Amino acid sequence: MCGIVGYLGQKDTKDILLGGLKELEYRGYDSAGIAVLQEGNFHSYKATGKLVNLEEKTQDFITNGFAIGIGHTRWATHGKPTELNAHPHVGESSYVVHNGIIENYADLKKELIADGVKFLSQTDTEVIVHQFEKNLKTSDSSFEAFKKTISQLQGAYAILLVTKGEDETIFFAKHGSPMLVGINAENEKYFASSDTPLIGHCSDVNYFEDGDYGYVTPVGLAIFDKNNKVQKPNFSKLTQNKLSAQKDGFRFFMEKEIYEQGDVIADTLMGRLSDEEILFEELDTTLFKGINEIKLCACGTSYHSALTATYLFERYAKIKTTIEVASEFRYRSPIMSKDTLFVVISQSGETADTLETLKMAKKAGLKTLVICNVDNSSMVRLADACILTRAGVEKGVASTKAFATQVTVFWMLSLYVGKLKDTMSTQEIAKQIALLREVPGACKVTDNLHERIKRLSKRYLHGHGFFFIGRDVFYPLALEGALKLKEISYLHAEGYPSGEMKHGPIALADPELFTIALLPQHLLYEKAKSNVEELSARDSTICAISAIEFDKADDFIAINECKDYMLEFFEMMVVLQVLSLEISVRLGNDVDMPRNLAKSVTVE
Ligand code: F6R
Repeated sequence: MCGIVGYLGQKDTKDILLGGLKELEYRGYDSAGIAVLQEGNFHSYKATGKLVNLEEKTQDFITNGFAIGIGHTRWATHGKPTELNAHPHVGESSYVVHNGIIENYADLKKELIADGVKFLSQTDTEVIVHQFEKNLKTSDSSFEAFKKTISQLQGAYAILLVTKGEDETIFFAKHGSPMLVGINAENEKYFASSDTPLIGHCSDVNYFEDGDYGYVTPVGLAIFDKNNKVQKPNFSKLTQNKLSAQKDGFRFFMEKEIYEQGDVIADTLMGRLSDEEILFEELDTTLFKGINEIKLCACGTSYHSALTATYLFERYAKIKTTIEVASEFRYRSPIMSKDTLFVVISQSGETADTLETLKMAKKAGLKTLVICNVDNSSMVRLADACILTRAGVEKGVASTKAFATQVTVFWMLSLYVGKLKDTMSTQEIAKQIALLREVPGACKVTDNLHERIKRLSKRYLHGHGFFFIGRDVFYPLALEGALKLKEISYLHAEGYPSGEMKHGPIALADPELFTIALLPQHLLYEKAKSNVEELSARDSTICAISAIEFDKADDFIAINECKDYMLEFFEMMVVLQVLSLEISVRLGNDVDMPRNLAKSVTVE
């Protein structure tokens, strides 16, 4: 989340910083800011909302000649999206920008306040600049102070810091959040949290490794690794093709988004897991006071993640949970009682039907919560409380990473409510949290897996239909798998609970009916297996997805052995997404912009 940029050189520093932030704006647009240091003087500007507000504010600010500068575009995590919480954060004579989360910020802040430091913001980032200035008082150099500061930070960060005493130096550090530096023949230095802002400016770039820190000056670049050893920069040529850079070399945005699910889930978990409890700083526990039911409402893929949540809430939090398709809920005179927490789920936060149900719930006096990927969207502004999914901008029309982060949030939320309602022991919660930490790994797409699915996909380009089948949470996953295939392949596909096939749909079974069977090892394996055997006996063509070899299937896609059914859920999710993608590619369809669809459905 968030985006950072830095520049050292002779050109118009403001223009370069704002241009870089424009490329990163999709990462977050709650607020943005820049700080420029020229001839010993700082100029800093911040604005809430989109970058255009900062552009307006800085209209009359022009930097001629050598300067250094840093900039940031923010997606709020700690503290509301206000100007005070916008980066860069200032100390007495230094500015800092930061991506990530400083996990020990509360302890550092306490000590700094005891030392008499006044904090202006609610952010975790502000401690960095004050800690640096505290260290500066007892260090021989700014670099020593910076190095000491980095060693005192826990958590994830990409940091750029500038200080008045060194007006030709930018200090940097990277741990757990991406950052690179670029150079060119004009001796300029550019920093950014991804490579797109550097395209057109730099010929060569060095991607920092975790633990790297150092500084740049007009004449050099000093990098130290996590063991404080000097590192030679490892420069590579930077592509000059912006579109392919935005796709990170993938063929389609959807493909890129499938591959980045591990990272965005890690972002979604960041700062929200302690060893024994789920931390949702954005929630006030009174939201759940007097609540006896959770009602979930959404459309499409978001509905599928919500359906998954019904199983998790009832299993872990032991709270009655019901779900409605938003377009149905709107017109059926639903009974809404005040002991129900009304939860809407939306990637965009703008879907007309879902938004309307939120308005209905508010009007009926229900407490409301939105789980959403877009801060400041209509739903986020309207609901009483909000949890952001931190998937970043999803460009592929077929939703992938938004779904993955929604399910992750629901899993966390079921444990959070479980703790509040005392339905889970500390040990049970700790066990679940340990599993949650493994989700990013479960979403990894290996070359082998992708290649296997690609080869196999050629057998599934025709037929008279697909059934995706699963039980429990694998039923919503089956629905989602079928939806993905429909959307981008235009083939007919249905999701079904495995146990329901014999109540009618099995009549369709023949070799031209393709069954994609989800067979998790850790949840109702034997039951689901018998359902698939019934289809196999009727000669349906079966593709089984499981960690356990299944000899009654025509095709078999192996997932990794996992400790828990929820990890199997994420492993299978990736398989289904890649399968749809490869079928669509073989059929020659437009993967990112399938026919008849739009990314945000703001009409009824
Ligand atoms: C499917 C898809 C749609 C959306 C649905 C709701 O891939 O993207 O089904 O999930 O239109 O959109 P949001 O989540 O923005 O409310």
